[in-house]
Amino acid sequence: MIWTPETLRDVVREKIGDHKFIIVSNREPFEHTYGENGIRCIRPASGMTVALDPIMAATGGIWIASGSGDADHEVVDAQGHIRVPPESPRYTLRRVWLTRIEEEAYYYGFSNEGLWPLCHIVHVRPEFRPEDWEIYQSVNRRFADIVIEELDGDKGFVFIQDYHFALLPKMIKERRPDVVVAHFWHVPWPNVETFRVCPHAEEILWGLLGNDIMGFHTRSHCLNFVDSVDRFLEVRIDRERMSVFKEGRETLIRPFPISIDVEAVERLSESPDVQTAVQLIRKDRRWRDKILAVGVERIDYTKGILERFLAVDRFLEKNPAFRGRFVLLQLGPISRINIPKYQEYNDAIYRAMIEINERWKARDWQPIHLRKIHLDMSEVVSHLRAADLCIVSSVHDGMNLVAKEFVAARTDEDGVLILSKFTGSAGELESALLVHPYDTDQFAEAIRQAVTMPAEEKAQRMRKMRDSVRSNNVYRWAGKIINEMRRLI
Ligand code: G6P
Repeated sequence: MIWTPETLRDVVREKIGDHKFIIVSNREPFEHTYGENGIRCIRPASGMTVALDPIMAATGGIWIASGSGDADHEVVDAQGHIRVPPESPRYTLRRVWLTRIEEEAYYYGFSNEGLWPLCHIVHVRPEFRPEDWEIYQSVNRRFADIVIEELDGDKGFVFIQDYHFALLPKMIKERRPDVVVAHFWHVPWPNVETFRVCPHAEEILWGLLGNDIMGFHTRSHCLNFVDSVDRFLEVRIDRERMSVFKEGRETLIRPFPISIDVEAVERLSESPDVQTAVQLIRKDRRWRDKILAVGVERIDYTKGILERFLAVDRFLEKNPAFRGRFVLLQLGPISRINIPKYQEYNDAIYRAMIEINERWKARDWQPIHLRKIHLDMSEVVSHLRAADLCIVSSVHDGMNLVAKEFVAARTDEDGVLILSKFTGSAGELESALLVHPYDTDQFAEAIRQAVTMPAEEKAQRMRKMRDSVRSNNVYRWAGKIINEMRRLI
């Protein structure tokens, strides 16, 4: 059975229709900013928000998130509410206002300099500063107040997203034990040896055990989590049921591999606007008549952009016939730039690009083009559709939804996906060319294989991947979580 927005809506109406449905995340699905022609609304680059927006559009409810756009204040009512999506409002976004100091400590500090590198095995030292932890706790408390306020005494389901809110589940449960609370951790959960580096490991685990359901992308992340609980807390663990019992309550630990709104991407990819954009991209003189590879993501050290550039360098070194004939177009917005590691990474990839281009460039050709820009979904899909190959080379990634977007966009069954073994998606997209991002020779060899792959093999691989992505869409993901939640009513 293929899950659709309608199936999900029916499940919600039938099973939990009398409950308020509340999502909490740090990043908001829509951001209002001042542009040249007044206020404009953009969708931030976040796999998490892109995946959850169609769910909320189908189910309705309230999405609580931090208001990050400079014009966000202008468009909300007195309670910070605005109906979204702007083009056809389906649910309510409740914006929470953080001060600059809170943003520095809770978002940049504890969440993104502490937990983000801690959860990803990327050899970036996590920073845990006491003042960040203080504010991380107080921001979690503030979100708890807002959840309670939005519930307004009604029955409810609260669905929390990600590492910004590890303490929130317990804070909600203490005040509203009747509310069903689930949490999805969109990034990996590390092994115990890594997790114990966090000085607040115990508090974080207690916070998360406030959930009735704790979801991860993969079974191995679930096992790592259970091991962490086992190591730090005196609680009863049932490994058969994959659950933890404490103070008379149970937390179920479950894998729910996330996905995308496949049909929406397919429709967009077939639309006349995207088809026109594809023609324009292909006509660009910088890669017209060339083999075009694309990479699309936020500029983040987990994404393996540097490793990708090195593999292109090695590929050109070993395959002279492709000099002048192969282009990598690397696209994506600058991200979390207040953090020194992100500044260093931006500099490092820029320097690598210059160096590699200097080494190989010829008249009218350079192998790597880097454009640090924010793309809307239609532009992302146009580039994925125009490309001969898409490269996803994360050094560690919970799932990676660009890989799935590429597959969904290729209704023409053309194009090759090069995919890192260290992504959650690699478990589902076995027909991709899997690469080890640190093994430059193997990675370069995969690029060679991709650019020489016969059309029939490309189509065969793409068909298999499309079957898998189509049946495991984001509505199914949400349906499974909601089914688990409603059993707890
Ligand atoms: C990852 C996280 C999301 C986050 C996204 C973008 O996908 O799991 O929670 O929204 O990165 O990062 P940002 O810091 O810009 O929200």
